Amino acid sequence: MIPWDKLHGAMTHFPIALLLFSTACDFVSVMLRKLPFARELRSVSLCALAVAALASLGAVISGIALSKGDLWGRGDFGWHHRFVWPAFGLLVALAVWRLVVREAMSRFGLCLYLCLMLLASGLVAAAGYFGRELTTGRRGRSPESSANATRSPMESILPCCNTSAPSSGITSCFTVSISSIGSSSAGAVAPMKGALSV
Ligand code: HEM
Repeated sequence: MIPWDKLHGAMTHFPIALLLFSTACDFVSVMLRKLPFARELRSVSLCALAVAALASLGAVISGIALSKGDLWGRGDFGWHHRFVWPAFGLLVALAVWRLVVREAMSRFGLCLYLCLMLLASGLVAAAGYFGRELTTGRRGRSPESSANATRSPMESILPCCNTSAPSSGITSCFTVSISSIGSSSAGAVAPMKGALSV
């Protein structure tokens, strides 16, 4: 069976990284347009954008296979898709535009292109963020952090202090300690006596 989750996790890094890289190259080439390497920078950004668009096809195909054809959804999954689809559409449209027009862009065209590149970068970064949230949600957070999330601040500091129990903290601490020790030994009981005498 194909591990779609691993494949999707690996594939998605290409469109995210390459689109951000291409946008950065475009902005640097515009800012330093007088310098000789500005032209090369534009060629690099075009290549990165074209590869990002191609790689995004792999990300979308693996994503659809992973979600078994569900193209929207709720919660983090819904948010992932709210950003994924506009990002994907914009990325492919920008790559086609750039490949067709090449260097023959008017001043207005260049401004519009740069604004749309910024927008696409933001959308793909947000899609990646919510994708990551989905993954951590599925695998679960670390036992330590998820335990702390359901504890009161006091319980996080003093794990034996059960603030939701009607009885006193010391009693519940004592109960937990006894059950967690199981077969008690003299060495394990000694600290409990100390706790009771406090
Ligand atoms: C350009 C398109 C896409 C990008 C950039 C993207 C990005 C991501 C990222 C970064 C993750 C987290 C991966 C990890 O941490 O290992 C992720 C997870 C996920 N994505 Fe996408 N995604 C895209 C398209 C899609 C599509 C089209 C679908 C479904 C129709 C989809 C469904 C999912 C699902 C279900 C997860 C959770 C995976 C898991 O639990 O392991 N994605 N995505």
